[in-house]
Amino acid sequence: MASQEPGPDEMSYQGDHVDFRWSRIGLVTGKEQHDHLDRPQATVNSLPAAPVAFAGRGAVLDKILPVLNPDSDDLDTNRLPICVISGPKGIGTSALAKFASHLAVNKGWFPGGALYVDLQSHAKDPLTDNDALLVLVSPLGVQGAELMSMIPVARYGYYRDCLAQRPGRTLIVVDHVVRASQVELVMPGEDRHCVLVTSRGGLPDLDAHEFRLRALDQVAACEVLAALVRIGDAHEKRAETEPEALRDLAELCAGVPRNLRDAATGLRQNRDITIEEYVHLLRDRLAPQRMPGALENEPPPGRRKRSPFMNWRRSS
Ligand SMILES: Nc1ncnc2c1ncn2[C@@H]1O[C@H](COP(=O)(O)OP(=O)(O)OP(=O)(O)O)[C@@H](O)[C@H]1O
Ligand SMILES: [Mg+2]
Repeated sequence: MASQEPGPDEMSYQGDHVDFRWSRIGLVTGKEQHDHLDRPQATVNSLPAAPVAFAGRGAVLDKILPVLNPDSDDLDTNRLPICVISGPKGIGTSALAKFASHLAVNKGWFPGGALYVDLQSHAKDPLTDNDALLVLVSPLGVQGAELMSMIPVARYGYYRDCLAQRPGRTLIVVDHVVRASQVELVMPGEDRHCVLVTSRGGLPDLDAHEFRLRALDQVAACEVLAALVRIGDAHEKRAETEPEALRDLAELCAGVPRNLRDAATGLRQNRDITIEEYVHLLRDRLAPQRMPGALENEPPPGRRKRSPFMNWRRSS
């Protein structure tokens, strides 16, 4: 059977797919091949949500943001693409890292987006280096099995190559780092991209800008408490009507954000008591202990110390 030949217009067809319309080869079996390893996505974002009711880190943000800003000229002579946010547990290092990262991405400083990994170093089963790498590369469309079939050195080389091919500047966020080597492994090969890291103890042997966090001041601590207590109840007025008791509570929490969160949860669990009552009862409960936020008597890894602020009932 004679095949129909294409007309002059159709001959000039420039489509980018295989065109079988004029073929004489009969049945054709097509095979689709997805080459994930070669196709880094243009924009990624695996950042967890920024914390709600975030407050009180303006001064340190003023120092971190210029490091992330590609147009900042403050640091031209000594630009290091790594920021470390450090501080004792519960002080808010992860919260600040997430907040600053979202801010930087939203400002358009990272058109390639952000990659995030939580190493869970203080949990019972911290991530292995391999798992951390897999978490970082999976939003890029990389197939884990293929990556893991490479020898370790090649895996990191491949990861850096993926980053090098990205058209947009990308932020890499590594939460809960304990050793500088964990950061060094996932450093991009070029300083176009940036790395933001959190670490309780700090990483003095890493060439990085390090920012050590302290407790929130009283104004910020009260702001956080007031915002959190209001969550879930539009009629909640205790923070407004008891400013002095609110300040006492912020002081009892020693300005440590995790304590403030727990205290707010305690108040939400007990909507029928005043803040003054709550403070009074907390003082009794805290009396035999050291102030919250102390680093002594750490619970075993993966187990969180029972918070004195929560699970409290008027009858207890
Ligand atoms: N500035 C802040 N304003 C409001 N909430 C905050 C602030 N900083 C931290 N938080 C909240 O306090 C809690 C503890 O903060 P976060 O998890 O960041 O502590 P951390 O320093 O990372 O502790 P860890 O070392 O144990 O990981 C979280 O619920 C977080 O959302
Ligand atoms: Mg953390």
